[in-house]
Amino acid sequence: MQRLDDPAALVQVRFDGTTLELAEGGNLAAELLAVGVAAFRRTPVSGAPRGPFCMMGACFDCLVEIDGVVRQACMTEVRDGIEISRPSAGAEVSND
Ligand code: FES
Repeated sequence: MQRLDDPAALVQVRFDGTTLELAEGGNLAAELLAVGVAAFRRTPVSGAPRGPFCMMGACFDCLVEIDGVVRQACMTEVRDGIEISRPSAGAEVSND
């Protein structure tokens, strides 16, 4: 997956300790896919990797932990300086 247009502004975020430059205000799931992040989380039972599937908030396969709260990446805008990580097993999901 790649961006169709150059973003107006890039911001820096951290994903599992790696600094990434993503389009400010872009869809977080799409931006992570565009820079090569495909596995956003692992299933609690088998540990199989999961990444965005529906891109509309229905499947929950795009869960990531953002600044300590588990959220759907496809329902989140990119902001400068956010800390993102793969969620730990048993983490609660926020619908805010
Ligand atoms: S990709 Fe399905 S909920 Fe985000």
